[in-house]
Amino acid sequence: MSMFKKALTCSFLAAVFFSSILANSQETVRLGTPVTEDQLENFDLVAPPDGSGFPTGSGTARQGKAVYDTKCAVCHAANGEGTSDATIIVGGDMHSAESPLRTVGSFWPYASTVFDFVRRAMPADAPKSLSNTEVYQVTAYVLYLNGLIDENTVLNSETLQTIEMPNANGFIDRSHIQ
Ligand code: HEC
Repeated sequence: MSMFKKALTCSFLAAVFFSSILANSQETVRLGTPVTEDQLENFDLVAPPDGSGFPTGSGTARQGKAVYDTKCAVCHAANGEGTSDATIIVGGDMHSAESPLRTVGSFWPYASTVFDFVRRAMPADAPKSLSNTEVYQVTAYVLYLNGLIDENTVLNSETLQTIEMPNANGFIDRSHIQ
């Protein structure tokens, strides 16, 4: 092939290449429709230990027993002892010489995390089906089953932050490491 023909072929291919880039860049980007505030409400449910993000409402363990018995006991058993290894939510000891059993009572550092988790993920067969009041009540009941509060302690966004969890100091904060 002569130098001239080669150059011609190259510039032809380049023209095809660049015109296809141009054609693509002129297409509209298909990113879907904007999300509304209402649609976001059900996803944006993070309630961290500093007390922000909690809904109004309150509940006691005494009130939460009915919620627990009808909506949780089927998987977590009558007193939180679980129906499988994954569903034990009471007991355990992080200082055990054996492999420690991690439960809400033995492992979780913040009571607020119980509220946060239950509100978003439980009951496992119908997440987000509980009212905020029911979440406060049943959270109180789970903490009560773990011996952490008594049955008349009123749980709300403020009291949740004051409950001392047995393993609160069992974690090393490495969040400063990028
Ligand atoms: C259909 C079965 C089912 C029902 C009903 C259910 N759960 Fe669960 N729950 C699970 C399973 C399975 C897990 C473990 C999930 C995992 O390990 O990711 C779990 C995990 C949990 C945990 C975290 C346990 C841990 O230490 O990691 C809590 C707390 C909890 N459930 C509370 C509740 C409450 C309160 C209710 C009732 C409102 C409820 N669950 C109803 C199946 C269920």
